Amino acid sequence: MSAYERKARRRVMRGTCFRRIAEVLRMEDGSRVAVRGWVYRHRDLGRKVFVVVRDSSGIIQAVFDGEAAEEARKAGIEAAVMVGGVVKSDARAPGGKELVGEWIRVVGPSHNFPISRDVSREFLLDVRHLWVRSRRMNAVMKIRHTVFGALHEYFRSRGYYEVQCPMFITAAVEGGATLFPVKYVDGSTVYLTQSSQFYLEALIYSLEKVYTVAPSFRAEKSRTRRHLTEFWHCEAEVAWATLDDIMRVEEELVWHVIQRVLEENQDELKLLGRDVERLEECKPPFYRISYDEAIDILRNKGLRIEWGEDFGADEERALVEEFDKPVFVHRYPEKAKAFYHKSDPRRPEVTLSADLLAPEGYGEIIGGGERIERLEELIEKIKRFGLRPEDYEWYLDLRRYGSVPHAGFGLGIDRTVMWIAGLDHIVDSIPFPRTVRRVYP
Ligand code: 4AD
Ligand code: MG
Repeated sequence: MSAYERKARRRVMRGTCFRRIAEVLRMEDGSRVAVRGWVYRHRDLGRKVFVVVRDSSGIIQAVFDGEAAEEARKAGIEAAVMVGGVVKSDARAPGGKELVGEWIRVVGPSHNFPISRDVSREFLLDVRHLWVRSRRMNAVMKIRHTVFGALHEYFRSRGYYEVQCPMFITAAVEGGATLFPVKYVDGSTVYLTQSSQFYLEALIYSLEKVYTVAPSFRAEKSRTRRHLTEFWHCEAEVAWATLDDIMRVEEELVWHVIQRVLEENQDELKLLGRDVERLEECKPPFYRISYDEAIDILRNKGLRIEWGEDFGADEERALVEEFDKPVFVHRYPEKAKAFYHKSDPRRPEVTLSADLLAPEGYGEIIGGGERIERLEELIEKIKRFGLRPEDYEWYLDLRRYGSVPHAGFGLGIDRTVMWIAGLDHIVDSIPFPRTVRRVYP
């Protein structure tokens, strides 16, 4: 250990009080401080060495010369360091302040950090365990944190009970094509849940208004910008509610989430280059159009679509171009939606369902609606959809014992983060994405 190192260590041992970088950037010139974090950038100009240090709160540049520059020179990109120095304003420095470095200690060395020149999407996904340190991912994860918090806050402040549902299930909620089979301990085949909806429906008979935030799994084979195989799902179910009631809950919820992000994440939105005005416009009421009206709009725009088909990403993108804030498309045809959707009594060929489509090309972020509450109707529809009523025995029981009208919805949290943060691919909305081709790292 050199004399310099011994001195630096003593200084640290003496009980240095480390400050968060965000806090240091607000301090007066001349304040003597210490920070700790990781080397974000490194520039060696011979006599002077510039080290940009990052912690969870921000980045600050520290300038070293003399003996300290020798030590600073050893700190590779992403090395963990402790730095002491004096705050000084400098218009050229990121954040407008820098540290005149007095000492630096490398706590965890780092040599040849792999992320340097190759920043292709595929490579960054291969090294996602390291890329989560990037300023972009840091910003997205802070927004994601706000979104999760806001979802809980909304429901809990409005009399909903938070519940937890199983991930291992025995029958499809959203169609067999995307079920993930799992070999269970007893040798039988079970599945990973596609949605907690049926369990939420069971729980309204005890708690009336329930919600859950949990993963859902879909063996989506299509590679798109908005599909994960494991995604985070915020679902709610409400006894006695109608389609109109549930749409009002959805728009209030989405607006609540946006407001929280606007309050808490201005810095992150700026770093990501998000046009916040587009978010500020998303005040309820959102637009409401019927599926039939949507078909007219699409046909007028030259898209060819059969009445009865569900919309894909292209149709949704074309539709939302026409609207400056989110839009509900309600009353989808029966065959475009899962079996549990209730028919509109005034027009049995359509269902009391609604998807919420986000603007700026993002498309569907929520699916929901009223559920069939009568036993005979549900059994008849299960059969009509080519499914077996015996696979849904416990779900049918809910219609045998005190059934009531009810409605609910599921919001895709990753898609919501993607939209709010203005990302162009869903994999960037979650730290460790799971897609058709990727379950590592
Ligand atoms: O529209 P979906 O399939 O509806 C349901 O699962 C209902 N059972 C929910 C309910 O009523 N409780 O899925 C709901 C939302 C979609 O709008 C979308 O945002 C998201 O979940 N989602 C996905 N997000 C990422 N990757 C996928 N593969 C997704 N599939 C659905
Ligand atoms: Mg859907």
